[in-house]
Amino acid sequence: MLPADARLDFDFKGGVTDKRLFPWDVWRRCVNQALRTQQRAGGGVAAYRDPGGEQELRLGVSRYLAFSRAVVCNWQDVVVTQGAQQALDLVGRVVIQPGDVVAVEEPGYPPARALFAALGAKLAHVPVDREGLIVDRLPKHARLVYVTPSHQFPLGMPMSLARRVELLEWAKRHGAVIVEDDYDGEFRFEGRPVESLKSLDRAGLVAYVGTFSKTLFPDLRMGYVVPPESLREPLWTAKRAGDWHSCMLTQTALGTFMLNGEFAKHLRRMHKAYAKRRAALIGLLTDELGDAFEPMPATAGIHLVAQLAPGWDEDDVMKAALDASIGVYGIGPFYAGERREQGVLIGYGGASVEAIEGGFRRLATLMPGLRR
Ligand SMILES: Cc1ncc(COP(=O)(O)O)c(C=O)c1O
Repeated sequence: MLPADARLDFDFKGGVTDKRLFPWDVWRRCVNQALRTQQRAGGGVAAYRDPGGEQELRLGVSRYLAFSRAVVCNWQDVVVTQGAQQALDLVGRVVIQPGDVVAVEEPGYPPARALFAALGAKLAHVPVDREGLIVDRLPKHARLVYVTPSHQFPLGMPMSLARRVELLEWAKRHGAVIVEDDYDGEFRFEGRPVESLKSLDRAGLVAYVGTFSKTLFPDLRMGYVVPPESLREPLWTAKRAGDWHSCMLTQTALGTFMLNGEFAKHLRRMHKAYAKRRAALIGLLTDELGDAFEPMPATAGIHLVAQLAPGWDEDDVMKAALDASIGVYGIGPFYAGERREQGVLIGYGGASVEAIEGGFRRLATLMPGLRR
């Protein structure tokens, strides 16, 4: 097996985006402008800023959410965070007491689980099916329910509208808070968009969490949360207590990038590129690798999960692929309990169409020999 940090000929890691297609010159201008703003701010006296974030960025986010997710909010409702992870942390801190039950999806997103556990929560791993979280299986006393409705992590299916409505009704009956992690729903390739939980929420139960880690890149560490009204003040206070506020320079540059229309332009460009990669990948998985893999139905996102047919083992495939300098990653680690599916997660955020063709053609030559 290769060491974990070795460079592979073809790597299909999840959580990776493509910096080669990012408009660096435009970004440089936004950063330069932000530097001038930072220099002038406070009339020569440097001071702390609003814990909720810079107005330009919050305005950019609120307009974007209204337009693309039907999430209607004022800019003051947006709290800028250090990625989605800090948004989850802030919501967890203000909602959960040690010993409270937090329901998470099974399989699910390990960093969210680790975070809620670190805050002292008791985790309830609630299974998902082809419609998303099985609401009937939620434990009665869950104080918080964490879900990824646009693109279930890791399996990929969107939560059906019926389940969304059911979840909202359940939360209302049980006095629970829902965290809607909309981490990569921007890239939707098929079907009609399903309303976000936040846009369906009439009872003030949903904290909507977004991130720039998939639309731009994860090392920017920029995200946000739109909490329900009742959590607005506590979240603002928690953000101030945690790190006072996020970096002014990055926020201001990103605000300009959004308000000037560059973010929307970039999303359109990336959508086109990712759509081609996804089509190439699904084509290869269904044709040349069709005996071994079946892509799980996902309408959005920049990764997909391909289920393995009976006769192949996830760990065997992963190991053989790695030995052939191809990175595909088993879904086993996303299960807290016994895994119900065998499959691999394939990220196409950082892989060109050529890399997808090269990598999966090479993998196709290995698969017959791996059949047990
Ligand atoms: C389910 C999920 N939520 C959120 C994120 C992004 O987290 P952050 O914004 O902290 O980078 C990811 C990234 O892989 C993810 O898979």
